Amino acid sequence: MYGTLLLLHLLAATIWTGGHIILATVILPKALRQRSVAHLQNFETAYERVGMPALIVQIITGLMLAYRLVPDIGGWFNPANPLAHIIMAKLTLLGLTLALAIDARFRVIPNLTPDKLVDMAFHIVPVTLISILFVVVGISIRTGWLF
Ligand code: HEM
Repeated sequence: MYGTLLLLHLLAATIWTGGHIILATVILPKALRQRSVAHLQNFETAYERVGMPALIVQIITGLMLAYRLVPDIGGWFNPANPLAHIIMAKLTLLGLTLALAIDARFRVIPNLTPDKLVDMAFHIVPVTLISILFVVVGISIRTGWLF
């Protein structure tokens, strides 16, 4: 069971973080250079089909892995437990990601024009950096880098 959860969590992580790195480093610079909303929209339409299910898998498997590490949900917020630091960090990153995604989806994307591409960049770049932080926090359980 643990192996399957970890496999699904890591597969979804490759899609979420990998997709955002491609978006931020290849698609976004091209869209900004050419002032092309279509470039971004074409990628978003294709990516959404795998990216959104990947994020949902990520959240479900992440919560199950967290429950396996600390089998008492109240304990997830106990600052005295180093494992809780990892869970709290993941939940904070998730909150930031959802806030940026909702703002992009309902405020920026519906009215996207070439002039608003910079506004979109201010969503894409932070979500990409946060997606990398998700991985760094996740592996910290083994590396001890952050906690
Ligand atoms: C896009 C979002 C996410 C990404 C990219 C991500 C990525 C990762 C990675 C790379 C690992 C390391 C696995 C290992 O070294 O074995 C990990 C572990 C972990 N993640 Fe996530 N994660 C994400 C979201 C979440 C969420 C929302 C939670 C919920 C609290 C979560 C909870 C965990 C836990 C508890 C572990 C440790 C698993 C263990 O080794 O027992 N993750 N994650």
